[in-house]
Amino acid sequence: MRIPEEIIERIRQSADILEVVGDYVSLKKKGQNYSACCPFHNEKTPSFNVNPARQIYKCFGCGKAGDSVRFIMDIENVSYPEALRSLAKKYSIEIPEQEATPEELLRQNERESLFIVLNFAKDFYRKQLLESEDGRGIGLSYFRERGFLNDTVDAFELGYSADVWDALLLEAQKRGYRPELLAKAGLILTNDRGRTYDRFRGRVIFPIHNVSGRVIAFGARILVNDKNQPKYINSPETEVYHKSQVLYGIFQAKQAIRQEDVCFLTEGYTDVISLHQAGIRNVVASSGTSLTIEQIRLISRFTENVTILYDGDAAGIKAALRGLDMVLEEGLNVSVASFPDGDDPDSYVRKVGTEAFKKHLQDHTQDFISFKTEMLLRDAGDNPFKRAEVITEVVQSITKIPDAIKRQVFFQKTARQLRVDEQTLISESNKLLRKQQDKPVRPRNEPSAPPAEPPFDEFWGDMPVEPAPAAPEQPAKPAVSQVQTLYYRHEEECLRLLLNYGPVELEPSVSLCHYMLHELNGIQFVTPLFRDMLNDIRAGFAEQEIRSAEYFLRHSSREVQQQTVHLVTNRYELSDGWLKHEIYVPTELDKIADAAYGNVLRLKKTIVEDKMEAVKRQIAEAQDRQEYEQCIELMTEFKHLKEIDKQIAAELGTVVTG
Ligand code: GTP
Ligand code: MN
Repeated sequence: MRIPEEIIERIRQSADILEVVGDYVSLKKKGQNYSACCPFHNEKTPSFNVNPARQIYKCFGCGKAGDSVRFIMDIENVSYPEALRSLAKKYSIEIPEQEATPEELLRQNERESLFIVLNFAKDFYRKQLLESEDGRGIGLSYFRERGFLNDTVDAFELGYSADVWDALLLEAQKRGYRPELLAKAGLILTNDRGRTYDRFRGRVIFPIHNVSGRVIAFGARILVNDKNQPKYINSPETEVYHKSQVLYGIFQAKQAIRQEDVCFLTEGYTDVISLHQAGIRNVVASSGTSLTIEQIRLISRFTENVTILYDGDAAGIKAALRGLDMVLEEGLNVSVASFPDGDDPDSYVRKVGTEAFKKHLQDHTQDFISFKTEMLLRDAGDNPFKRAEVITEVVQSITKIPDAIKRQVFFQKTARQLRVDEQTLISESNKLLRKQQDKPVRPRNEPSAPPAEPPFDEFWGDMPVEPAPAAPEQPAKPAVSQVQTLYYRHEEECLRLLLNYGPVELEPSVSLCHYMLHELNGIQFVTPLFRDMLNDIRAGFAEQEIRSAEYFLRHSSREVQQQTVHLVTNRYELSDGWLKHEIYVPTELDKIADAAYGNVLRLKKTIVEDKMEAVKRQIAEAQDRQEYEQCIELMTEFKHLKEIDKQIAAELGTVVTG
């Protein structure tokens, strides 16, 4: 159903850009405007700007820009009407939707109708809980027994479904909702004999909200102990509910997750609710399934830090270990905190109270790697074979961490824990990487053999690079602008090669595009325009398309078009005369593999040197603060980078021919 124009206008008037954006990032005033680290791409220096006078935002890093509604669409990944509805909810603007007739509903798009009918069901279950005799006597008193206060019941919109066959179905039909829609929403079932009935009966109801607060599914808990029935039942997968993409409680938790800069991950509905009530609101649940990649990405929109709160029993520990390597792979910092055997976070917080709970977390939170090491070591005992397996297991996990510096720290720490040499772990890790890597893509006519065991190659592969500080406020110091010039030059050259020679085969079935993207894996360009273009090429390559100059010349952005024109203007143009006489002139094509390899090395060298400068500054700062332990860590890091730098230089020496 369409939202009336005047309501849209009211929503737009109310949705102040600072408030809307401020829900997601913390804005700092800078003159007339505000800035923050961009919520749409990963960055450490703020390039995201909000202009309150014009009510717009723009990220100078990734180029995302627009008004309040566009912001919600982008960040929540929702459609225009969904964004408007979410803003209406935030500003308590009522959208008249109860007037929808069944015919109107029919015409609406399916997703929207599902949202509406799910919202109706939520209201229905809530009314049952709060107003019906059974609801109050059975449902509400169950929640009371579990210690849930009224505010909590409201915040999570908890409900109750009476123990009858079709209470929801009948009420829904009275309101004009068709059974087909109810079935699509997962609210009703039909048995073999064609009888239709409610899915949730005689249970308390936990609505599941998406990140913008709309109800997309339900969980329902039985009230009595019955071995023959599942304790919880859930909505099935529907058009709007994809279990693997949802975290229970994310809507109620997201603000706190951002503020606390950590997300607590629990197993159950009641863990989330109890902790929320106890004032610990940065909590979500995976609802008894193991974590998926989509769920992890959902968390990483709000923080890089996850602490997994798991039950103290053996199953809980196993569950905590499973799937966690994936979380590491996404670059999140993972910690785990355990609870005494027999307690889950829900029961524990009720037992000891908020302060003691927080204290417990402080004392029992451990980074995942050392937790895993400790667990496995305990299992292995003195058995040397088992201890060797432990090393492999743990190295496997560390190898998944995309950040080379973090990896380095973990190798040190774990070496101490395992009482082995750090170098042993590193070469074990390199072995793993070599095994995983698909066939190594190196240009065939590469003049130099690769160094025997190049640690930098492995370490490189996926080293994330922070963009250099964007547009410094004061006149740039020479050092900064120099490194930016270097980035600019190497990145531009890289794109020039890609745009001109992308499909050229360096080896059978290894195109230049393939080779360069492989080498650049995990690297983001610093120059925003080049970064976007490279990512565009990556997106194309993922679809098996090599995006060439033609593609970029048709690009909607004028800047991209202009740059492309510049890149394809051939500096090595041959004069016609030579061609006419069919005299062979070595063209750039003959040296293309060298050009590509050299370019990649130069770019990586710049990145390493940039990083070294940063570490140097950090060392100086740490010295000022007299934090000597950190100093030593940083110096180790510096030494490591220096080593990489040297190796790259040596490699470059072999490629660069007169
Ligand atoms: P309470 O027993 O009410 O405290 O719930 P809990 O959250 O502590 O339950 P438990 O630790 O047993 O399970 C954790 C989560 O797994 C629950 O919140 C549910 O999401 C899910 N779960 C538990 N039992 C079942 C079941 O029988 N079926 C399904 N589908 N999910 C379940
Ligand atoms: Mn429980």
